[in-house]
Amino acid sequence: MCSGRLRDKKKETVSNGQNVSAKTESDTDSLAYAHESAKYTEESTEVSEVKAGEANILIAYFTWADNTEVENPDAVDVDASTSASVLPPGNAAMLAGWIQDEVGGDLFSIQVTEPYSSDYDECLDRAADEKAEDARPPLKSRVENMDSYDIVFLGFPNWWYTVPMAVHSFVEEYDWSGKMVIPFVTHGTGGLASCIDDLEEALAPATIMEPIGVYRDDIKSAQPEIQEWIAGLNIDFIGNCETSSKS
Ligand SMILES: Cc1cc2nc3c(=O)[nH]c(=O)nc-3n(C[C@H](O)[C@H](O)[C@H](O)COP(=O)(O)O)c2cc1C
Repeated sequence: MCSGRLRDKKKETVSNGQNVSAKTESDTDSLAYAHESAKYTEESTEVSEVKAGEANILIAYFTWADNTEVENPDAVDVDASTSASVLPPGNAAMLAGWIQDEVGGDLFSIQVTEPYSSDYDECLDRAADEKAEDARPPLKSRVENMDSYDIVFLGFPNWWYTVPMAVHSFVEEYDWSGKMVIPFVTHGTGGLASCIDDLEEALAPATIMEPIGVYRDDIKSAQPEIQEWIAGLNIDFIGNCETSSKS
């Protein structure tokens, strides 16, 4: 059974005062998300007790690139960080890959049945509508053997200060009792915002570990940060590395 180093609820989110506007990159000034930034802090030094070889690991992630269709990939401006996200691997997928390099486990890409537009503004609009409606976009597939996983790394981008609504669709499909959930988030300066708080109710029986948030422009060089974060979780993942597989 896992007992983990829990994130410190007393400290919750704090603003770091950043006010870089990510939305200016798509030439619109209506988006205020970049003014929100958050980080979690930790206090407890309790060490996890997942025994080597006993835990099965799933790395589930939502990323825009796996949830859109690009007609002409050659026309995408890969230097524009908002555009680059539509081409695989998406930012959350890159983090997922590095997590797998460290701990093994199975990858699962959360995908909606109706892809989002590859146009940034159109995607923003649909995401805003879905958030306003508290929507649960249907998903293409589910993890059939979820019961067999003890540890679930759960990754996604910050969309409108919270998780893409498809992540709620995913989370609400399963029983999280007895599981350890380790969130990882990518963002455009908004940090974790309310991402983790908004998932807590649905994940409630699970132990939620210290999340990491990675700014999208830092993704390509974030592997060492991921390694350090995983080491700091104080979980013995060793037994899983030998039995890891990609799905
Ligand atoms: C619909 C949408 C909404 C977004 N909302 C926010 C936000 O509120 N705060 C933020 O910091 N970044 C926001 N972003 C930027 C993404 O979090 C960022 O680009 C992330 O790295 C994308 O990850 P991905 O490639 O895995 O999809 C948004 C991006 C999209 C497409």
